[in-house]
Amino acid sequence: MPIAPFLHATMETATGGMGTPVAQILSLGSYIPDGVLTNADMEAMVDTSDTWIVERTGIRERHRVGPGDTAASMGERAAREALAKAGNPVPDAIIVATCSAATRLPSTACLIQQRLGLGGMPAFDINAACSGFVYALALSDSLIRSRALRTVLVIASEALTPLVDYTDRSTCVLFGDGAAAAVVGSGGGDGGIRAVRWAADGAEADLIYYGVREDDPDGGRAIRMAGRGTFRSAVTRFINVSELLLADAGWTADDIDWFIPHQANLRIIEATAKRLGVPMERVIVNVDRVGNTSAASIPIALHEAAATGRLRPGQRVVSVAFGSGVTWGGVALEWTGQTSR
Ligand SMILES: CC(C)(COP(=O)(O)OP(=O)(O)OC[C@H]1O[C@@H](n2cnc3c(N)ncnc32)[C@H](O)[C@@H]1OP(=O)(O)O)[C@@H](O)C(=O)NCCC(=O)NCCS
Repeated sequence: MPIAPFLHATMETATGGMGTPVAQILSLGSYIPDGVLTNADMEAMVDTSDTWIVERTGIRERHRVGPGDTAASMGERAAREALAKAGNPVPDAIIVATCSAATRLPSTACLIQQRLGLGGMPAFDINAACSGFVYALALSDSLIRSRALRTVLVIASEALTPLVDYTDRSTCVLFGDGAAAAVVGSGGGDGGIRAVRWAADGAEADLIYYGVREDDPDGGRAIRMAGRGTFRSAVTRFINVSELLLADAGWTADDIDWFIPHQANLRIIEATAKRLGVPMERVIVNVDRVGNTSAASIPIALHEAAATGRLRPGQRVVSVAFGSGVTWGGVALEWTGQTSR
């Protein structure tokens, strides 16, 4: 399997003074819709079973948007929480990671900008599928370290359930809806982003897709996935990028307080953690309750870890993502964000 070259950003020193600024996650917000689809609900829709879904994916339930809820409306709620926790700064840019925008034009970022009553700063979407939050963080990190910007509002929001074919049992059990947001800023003191890796390989574009393709019998109106190939590619990339991030940061697996991977599938997470030598007690898992929320997955997990008091300032975190494209990447950081709801 070819490994694409990585664009690469590594931190130099802690911030302050005249040194290179360090990008930090200053606060987080999240929004998960109330509607729940349990495995029992899935059993009523397709030929599947709770046992099969739990054994193969670890998923027990996922959340579903209600009527009128979109990536923009969920993203707004998550953004309001993150902004409030950071003291309501006016961000220098709004970046939204989503692959499930309700509108092709305008961008979800501009719709959220409007909802927040903000204006003037650049606002745009990134579509890197499940790697979207990592891509947005990587970009924010570069913008902040280069002193182009000081504060970036990063939002990851996905309304995936409207894009799922609930007669396709191999994909419909996997996906859920949700949003999370982070205020990323040039903070003071210790901590922040230590290393970022982001990459893609379009040679595997056929693994997961949504949209019109010539050979698609249903006109591309649902997410399609080659499950086994996706599984193999995800595990390979997760392990590879985790090892690169550890090397970049100068850490070993023992140095990681929390491994917080994209929540696609418990078996992918367990295989990666085992290979890295990180015990599952130091892995944040919520895929059982939210399913795969694509770009929103990592920040929802970060938010949950911080809100439940597990993730504390000064702790070392490695997060890795993989998604359609294929895209992948990750971030190594020392946690600086707020820890309470
Ligand atoms: C989707 C996934 C759980 C399927 O598990 P798998 O062990 O690879 O299963 P396969 O696709 O090979 O299918 C095996 C059998 O299970 C069946 N099956 C698929 N989905 C099923 C379901 N929900 N319930 C019951 N049976 C199911 C298949 O039809 C197949 O039956 P057959 O042998 O009679 O043809 C697994 O491939 C996976 O986790 N892939 C990665 C998914 C992912 O994380 N995607 C997002 C990445 S960002």
